[in-house]
Amino acid sequence: MQVHPTIAGLRAALAPHRLQRIAFVPTMGNLHDGHIALMTEARKHADVVVASIFVNRLQFRPGEDFEAYPRTFQADCERLTAAGVDHLFAPDEKEMYPQPQAYHIEPPMTHQGVLEGEFRPGHFRGVATVVAKLFNIVQPQVALFGKKDFQQVMVIKNMVRELGFFIEIIDSPTIRADDGLALSSRNGYLTKQERAEAPRLARELTKVVTAIRAGNRDFSGLENGVREVLENHGWVPDYIAIRRKSDLQSPSAHESVQVENLVVLAAAKLGSTRLIDNMEV
Ligand code: PAJ
Repeated sequence: MQVHPTIAGLRAALAPHRLQRIAFVPTMGNLHDGHIALMTEARKHADVVVASIFVNRLQFRPGEDFEAYPRTFQADCERLTAAGVDHLFAPDEKEMYPQPQAYHIEPPMTHQGVLEGEFRPGHFRGVATVVAKLFNIVQPQVALFGKKDFQQVMVIKNMVRELGFFIEIIDSPTIRADDGLALSSRNGYLTKQERAEAPRLARELTKVVTAIRAGNRDFSGLENGVREVLENHGWVPDYIAIRRKSDLQSPSAHESVQVENLVVLAAAKLGSTRLIDNMEV
């Protein structure tokens, strides 16, 4: 695998491949099996696989974990090499943001102001801006994202459609530990006790999905039920929400809901660690 710290270096390396199909997987590093599954999937869609590692300051708010975010570059390189990735773009902050980024991609408030965006104002503006910049640097034909970050994929797909990026967006299923916990770089923050408690989030979302499939339409009752269970076990939930997959708005009580079009999303703090998860009905 070739590692490129600069935009110019990456562009030069990709120049001979411009007539081939290039797949791109952006990450913030500290790679786990969820990231690696995206690399493996990328290989099926392209001749050349490009990954990036960049902890993007723009998508963190003051007081969030930008500084503490785990940086494990050597181990990441080994995993990417083993996964057959061809090129890694790994810029430092100066390369990506030589001066403070003044132009931004501003998703509509209906997309960036709900769920994750409500609790992390500006987060999706930071994500959309860096992903647009990375797309322009790499110029892939296809890019892959995990459904673990369901709202992120929704924002990226809409950005690509509305701004006319000539890039196919593929979303990949969430990879989980054997006990159901969605893999995340932030799981490393959990104490041993918290790690044992953490799978409850996925278990509760599974129960909601099962209940909806069985005909339960009391969505707020289901949401409140999960909130109560989590709170009783020491969690501090931000949201538990049953939403339409297409735009993450609430299914109106009046429309006849196609349950296959719904997704259950949740974010909650366990100790000092904030975990998110979601499941499609
Ligand atoms: P990061 O959290 O490193 O995730 C990189 C990609 O891996 C994202 O598409 C994410 O959805 C996916 N991913 C993470 N955990 C996963 C899991 N358990 N199963 C499947 N896929 C998983 O998401 C980001 O970085 C950043 O916001 C980024 C898009 C790189 C922009 O900075």
